Amino acid sequence: MQNTNTNWHKWQQFFASRSDRQLPDLKSSDDYESVPRSVARSLAIFQLGESGGGTVVEQARQSTIPGIDEHYADAMKLFVAEENRHAALLAICVRNLGGSLISSNWTARLFVYARRLVGLRLKVLVLLAAEVVGICYYHLIATQLPQSRLRSILTQIVNDERAHLHFHCSFLRTQTNSQWRRKVFTVIWRITMVTAATAVLIDHRYTLRDLNLTIGIMWRRWTIYSRQAEKLVTNCPALPRDVSPESEPSNARKTSHDAMRGRYQTAFLAGSVE
Ligand SMILES: [Fe+2]
Ligand SMILES: [Fe+2]
Repeated sequence: MQNTNTNWHKWQQFFASRSDRQLPDLKSSDDYESVPRSVARSLAIFQLGESGGGTVVEQARQSTIPGIDEHYADAMKLFVAEENRHAALLAICVRNLGGSLISSNWTARLFVYARRLVGLRLKVLVLLAAEVVGICYYHLIATQLPQSRLRSILTQIVNDERAHLHFHCSFLRTQTNSQWRRKVFTVIWRITMVTAATAVLIDHRYTLRDLNLTIGIMWRRWTIYSRQAEKLVTNCPALPRDVSPESEPSNARKTSHDAMRGRYQTAFLAGSVE
């Protein structure tokens, strides 16, 4: 692998710094009677999507494309482990809500198919689309729930996904170092995001209806985050420090390891990690 300007070793350290987080207890005394049943089904679909991902690690390790090194593959391995932890967290949520885990779903298959269809660059682009979808969807569900362990778990996942967004953008930025590459990225990115968002709107329509989340609310938030990701990749100046952080769930930054994570996230947003 080649030398790179991006400090993948720091990304590896970042993911390693929070790799020992424990899962919460399975049982909770919170009352989830008021939570619609459709939420459990929705989270079960996302739980399936958060599972797996080993092939991208192998691909990152064997890839000879410029801009990455062995630390990138190591960071990718820790990233996949973090996604698998999300699957475990969501399984806890689903069980607490009285729902059942699933082993197959068409939107989860769509993401897996898209990831397998293409090389590392497009695979990471699809992963980035999943981050944008996840950040918005988990956050909006959390805002509709009462203060509870379920809400705090979703908030913790949102925080993780926001770091993942920066991780994937850092990689894609190394792959779009000419104007035509940035244009190709922008076209593929927008098509991917519209496809992903449409699939989620269809598959999760009952949950959105039950939680009074309109298509307009979802679409606006997806647009904000997808444009932020696009700008991070194509190096547009004058990025906001973050996307409306005041609108994140109120306990968004109170989970364990937040001191460490907060330092790193500040570094990401200031651009000093790279
Ligand atoms: Fe995740
Ligand atoms: Fe993620």
